[in-house]
Amino acid sequence: MWRVKSLDAILATAEKKSLHRSLGPVQLTMLGIGGIIGTGIFVLTAEAAQKAGPSMMLSFVIAGAVCAVAALCYAELASMVPVAGSAYTYSYAVLGEFFAWLVGWALILEYAVAASAVAVGWSGYVVGLIEHLAHIDIPDMLTAGPYAGGVINLPAVLISLLVTWLLVLGTKESATVNGFLVAIKISALTAFVFLAVPVMKMENFHPFAPLATAGVIGAGASIFFAYVGFDAVSTAAEETRNPQVNVPIGLIGSLVICTIFYLLVAGGAVGAYGAQPVFGLNHEVLSPGSIELAARCKEISAVGAMPLVCSKEALAHVLREIGHPAVGNLLGLAAGLALPSVILMMIYGQTRIFFVMSRDGLLPSVLSKVHPKFKTPHIVTMVTGGLVLVAAAFFPVGQLADISNSGTLFAFLMVAIAVMMLRIKDPDRHRPFKTPLVWIIAPLAIVGCLVLFFYLPMKAKLLLPIWAAIGLVFYFAYGYRKSHVGRGVTEVAELDPNAPGTAIPPMPGAPAPGSKEERE
Ligand code: ALA
Repeated sequence: MWRVKSLDAILATAEKKSLHRSLGPVQLTMLGIGGIIGTGIFVLTAEAAQKAGPSMMLSFVIAGAVCAVAALCYAELASMVPVAGSAYTYSYAVLGEFFAWLVGWALILEYAVAASAVAVGWSGYVVGLIEHLAHIDIPDMLTAGPYAGGVINLPAVLISLLVTWLLVLGTKESATVNGFLVAIKISALTAFVFLAVPVMKMENFHPFAPLATAGVIGAGASIFFAYVGFDAVSTAAEETRNPQVNVPIGLIGSLVICTIFYLLVAGGAVGAYGAQPVFGLNHEVLSPGSIELAARCKEISAVGAMPLVCSKEALAHVLREIGHPAVGNLLGLAAGLALPSVILMMIYGQTRIFFVMSRDGLLPSVLSKVHPKFKTPHIVTMVTGGLVLVAAAFFPVGQLADISNSGTLFAFLMVAIAVMMLRIKDPDRHRPFKTPLVWIIAPLAIVGCLVLFFYLPMKAKLLLPIWAAIGLVFYFAYGYRKSHVGRGVTEVAELDPNAPGTAIPPMPGAPAPGSKEERE
């Protein structure tokens, strides 16, 4: 189980592959921004405020800093090993199959659970928009899970179904569509900043950190979700022109642009409207996504303005409350249009990880089965979509985001370890991008991931080891025996060419991935 997949073999497979390398640095940065900006800033700002109050601005800085050092580590590996599978593939080459499996398994949390979180976030905005425009009140029973007195989050189920269906049909989110959606998101956030920042009031920043340091770091651990997705850039490495230069540019460029926006937006929301946490009647701390907080929010909103932390559409709510209801609705519309692309990228990312793991023999080959007509890995897409849908139906956005964060932090931590190990094991290999000051940056990434992990809510923290234990049962029951590396099988499978964010036509005459001709 410590067997590694040799880097040379991985690179040779990539060389054999016939994917057209079409993405340049700008498209790649756009792809990163497309994956990053989503529910985190549009929705979880409210959750961060409930934990940290105005000091959530520091939480954004902390989470962004951890992502930045992790991105520098990612960039070295992504430029050296520009193939699909991201952290899973790097771990396979450096840390061995056992850890690669654990990372791949954790990435299910990162991608599939994140897709559910974004679906729930989308639901909040769309329901709010419909209610404002049509002046109706859609019953909570149909728009929230049991955590907020509802039964099922139907809009979140519907959007998950729609995205899954599009992916089964083979929808490619072309680079043009992605660019358009990124422009919508950036315009919405820019409008927010321009309207909110000029009306900031200093008194809204007091008390700055009502729940002290634990609140600030706890909010950082949750808001970390807002940055997840930059690693989607590294999963597109195989379709990138000159990946050695462009992947690091895409990773770091998208992260820097998003961090600037997040700080301005968070500052604007705090300053213009206020972002103090809501406490219980006895001044007890209420956790985001809890029934108690939902009930308290109802009481407060019945007699006055709804606090930021109670809103399911935080940014639109702020704009409506500071005198721009029409722009608030437009921002809601922008979120409604753009968030599904984040769900699409997350579900797609998940199917691709499953695909690579099944290509390596660690998961059953049925998962890389391709639909005869649509030429998409329909089975794995439907399985993933089903999981996403169930989680989105019944869980609150914050809890889903925290669970996703736990898996992501683990994957980032392993990447930071892998970078250092590879420097020791294979110091002479060509590194087109070298993590600067690696012996400082990589340990910082490790410490940052550990600190954020320990500040996650207990449920999210416990879920990771339980999830890993389930994964290990699967590994020893299946992957350990079937592993292609273990059995000395040389892989030949091609990746599925239906990558979102790219417009890659399948090679004329090339056998479909997993098809009979290909296996022969
Ligand atoms: N960073 C992505 C979002 O906030 C996952 O929706």
